[in-house]
Formats: sequence, structure tokens, C-alpha cells
Amino acid sequence: MNMVDVIDVSKTYEQGKVLVHALAGVSLSVAKGEFTALAGPSGSGKTTLLNLIGGLDAPTQGRIILDSQEITGLSQSSLANLRLNKIGFVFQAYNIIPVLSARENVEYVMLMQGVPARERADRARAILDEVGLVNMHDRRPAELSGGQQQRVAVARAIVSQPSIVLADEPTANLDSQTGQELLEMMARMNQERKVTFIFSTHDRMVMDHARRIVRLKDGLVSDDHTK
Ligand SMILES: Nc1ncnc2c1ncn2[C@@H]1O[C@H](COP(=O)(O)OP(=O)(O)O)[C@@H](O)[C@H]1O
Ligand SMILES: [Mg+2]
Repeated sequence: MNMVDVIDVSKTYEQGKVLVHALAGVSLSVAKGEFTALAGPSGSGKTTLLNLIGGLDAPTQGRIILDSQEITGLSQSSLANLRLNKIGFVFQAYNIIPVLSARENVEYVMLMQGVPARERADRARAILDEVGLVNMHDRRPAELSGGQQQRVAVARAIVSQPSIVLADEPTANLDSQTGQELLEMMARMNQERKVTFIFSTHDRMVMDHARRIVRLKDGLVSDDHTK
């Protein structure tokens, strides 16, 4: 069963009067349970593709099917609902909420999902324990290192029990040791929870953790390699 089908997708942006073809006819299927890297140099279309798969933006042409549901053309509110319940996002710049503690950041998405308070607290504690931050649960992002903030972001992405986690260069702001540890943590979650992961990177060491590497070049898939 496929988690994602990207079917002949193009995305064109207007930069002033210039048209930029960020994606120029990409087709890609990702099966359930994959741990797949999108690789490619800066500007090759990695972020654009992740944003389209995650329903954060719409293709100019082509179709996207997520977990057997066509998401192309869905209303904004349907997309918001789908993102809340099916997708976990991890961004390069962590994007956790600065005024909330680690625990509150993790609980927030469950609050939006309507999870009862007691269960929210239990699940937040369990996931913070799993990412090694249970003793820092009341710290705000400014009181955590970059690697710890990204662990909170991964905890937040996974605690909502998504079908897929999309991580856009999650290690780009981390030193290589911390980045490796984050990838190992994500790989463990993929194994244990059977959650599909797609992450982008241009770091070779990060790519090495993937079981499949899809290379983008100039908005096209230039190579697709499964180990
Ligand atoms: N919102 C946007 N507006 C205009 N151009 C964009 C926008 N987002 C991306 N692009 C352009 O699309 C191309 C692909 O960008 P991106 O998907 O961010 O690549 P990557 O993540 O691989 O670095 C680049 O040329 C970039 O400048
Ligand atoms: Mg990018």
C-alpha cells in the first residue's frame, strides 16, 4: 500500500516577472513504512515537494494522493484537518512555540485534536521520556539547545499519531553528532511505530540513514535508489 503518490506534479512560482519551475513533472510513490530521504542541492525542489505532499501548498499541475485520499483541490479547512490528524511536520528551524514549555508544545497538537487532558499529560510524558527530555519538560525553547529543541519538534510531530512525518532538513542547524543522534531517533520511531518518514537533506551522513534516497535536480527526480 502506498502512503504517498505524487503524479506528474509541477509547481511554478512567480518571482516578479520570472517564472520559476520549482518542480517540473515529478512522479513518486512512497509505500507505507518507508524511511526515505529527498536529496539534492539547494534550490532543487525538496521543500516545495514536501510542502505539496503535506498539503501546505497546492501544485500548479498534477495530483497528490495521501493515504488513498486525493488531496489536490481539497478546501483549506479539509487540508487543515488532514494535516492535524495525518501528518507530523519537522522543520529546519524547529518551529516550536517559544512561549510554551517542551511539555506544552507537545500537548498543544493533542489539545487541537481534542485529546482529553489526562491522556494528553500521559502521552506527553511518555514521548518526552522517549526523546530523552522528560527532565526538561518545563523548559521553554530558549532554555534548550538546538538539538533538544529539534527533539521536542520530533516529539510533537509523532505524538499526534500521524500516518506520515515530513521533515525538511531537520539536521541542517545541528552539528553532525547531534544530527546523527536525531536521525537515529527518527529511524527508531519509524521501526517501532511503523510511521512513514520522508525527510530532506543535502548532508551525506544523514542520507546514509535512509533506506531509500530520491534525488532531485532542477525540479525533477534524477535518481531513485533503494538499499
Ligand atoms: N515561495 C516561493 N516563491 C518563489 N520562488 C520559490 C518559492 N519557494 C521556492 N521557490 C524557488 O523554487 C525553487 C526550489 O526551491 P525549494 O523547493 O525551496 O528547493 P530546496 O528545498 O531543494 O532548496 C528555487 O529556485 C526557489 O528559489
Ligand atoms: Mg529547502
